[in-house]
Amino acid sequence: MLKNDIFLRALLKQPVEYTPVWIMRQAGRYLPEYRAIRQKAGSFMSLCKNKTLACEVALQPLQRFNLDAAILFSDILTIPDAMGLGLHFETGEGPIFRYPVRDIKAVRSLEIPDSEDALSYVTDAVSLIKKTLNGSVPLIGFSGSPWTLATYMVEGKSTKEFKLIKGLMYNEPETVHLLLEKLAAAVTDYLNAQIRHGADVVQIFDTWGGILTPEAYREFSLQYMERIIKGLIRQREGREIPVILFTKNSGLWLEAIVKAGATTVGLDWTINMADARRRIGDKVSLQGNMDPCLLYASPTRIRQEVKKILHDFSDGGKIKTGHVFNLGHGVHPGVNPDNVCAMVDAVHEFSQ
Ligand code: CP3
Repeated sequence: MLKNDIFLRALLKQPVEYTPVWIMRQAGRYLPEYRAIRQKAGSFMSLCKNKTLACEVALQPLQRFNLDAAILFSDILTIPDAMGLGLHFETGEGPIFRYPVRDIKAVRSLEIPDSEDALSYVTDAVSLIKKTLNGSVPLIGFSGSPWTLATYMVEGKSTKEFKLIKGLMYNEPETVHLLLEKLAAAVTDYLNAQIRHGADVVQIFDTWGGILTPEAYREFSLQYMERIIKGLIRQREGREIPVILFTKNSGLWLEAIVKAGATTVGLDWTINMADARRRIGDKVSLQGNMDPCLLYASPTRIRQEVKKILHDFSDGGKIKTGHVFNLGHGVHPGVNPDNVCAMVDAVHEFSQ
């Protein structure tokens, strides 16, 4: 039994006493206690692969803030790593793949990893975090979307231009489709394994879907997320497993996104919450969407913004279910944890 299931109730539009809140990338470098464990682990990937440390790090933000959900500590790039692309993280540069995938031959030779085997360090972390939480709050599992994973696998690193992946998409769409098909199968298996091991909710991070044209978004990103959602375990022990779909920069396409079948649509800060609610709020619940840069402002300014977003989702000031408060993207490494605390407490205070 969960002691605090308000997050699940808000996702499922069941009655709530206040608006629940969690933060994308809530366990990370903005916390000094994270930096200490990260240093002890030696590298980011060895931290992810050590279930005891991964569990400790996942619980750190819950010890500091009054959050309504925990998230698995891992990364979206675990799947390409398990496919043999040789992932490592360079300080200040982000992820690097030693063997990027850039032609049909390389895509054909990719094998879909068995999550219970090649990714058992992730499912082990899920089990341990779930057990350690001891029912205090729900646990979120996650994966990248096929398109977002493909951008890293083709580029071989983070990019601002998307030259290689977009070049390949326009020149050889069938190569990219084969890659996305394999990734959709891998993600479905991976998320189902996380659900079997204890994830109460799963979120698909489509960080780079919003760089596509509207047509390409449907063809190369949304279609595959819809396929994944259809293949997910949606019930466990009599409880529904909600699915959150987050595409950054997707405000123009909300009506299309709803059709993918997720329980909840995650919003970035480029769309107004009242507009989003009016457009799709009768079909799905919404998550978001404070600009992460507000955490660089004062607690007074942060509280003002929290109040505004809550008000935008409400019925003329009366709080409604169907909203989970979050940032519009991950928390930045440079923010002061005290400001995060101000945000979390303001959400609870203003939504009672
Ligand atoms: O939310 C959480 O607290 C859970 C952990 C989590 C991480 N990454 C840990 C992490 C989650 C949910 C992710 C998702 C992720 N990873 C995404 C999608 C969300 C988003 O932010 O857009 C993406 C694109 C990645 C890929 C990735 N991982 C990049 C590009 C980088 C380097 C840039 C950066 O933000 O550091 C990472 C590294 C990473 N993933 C860190 C953490 C805590 C920092 C690693 C370190 O300690 O040096």
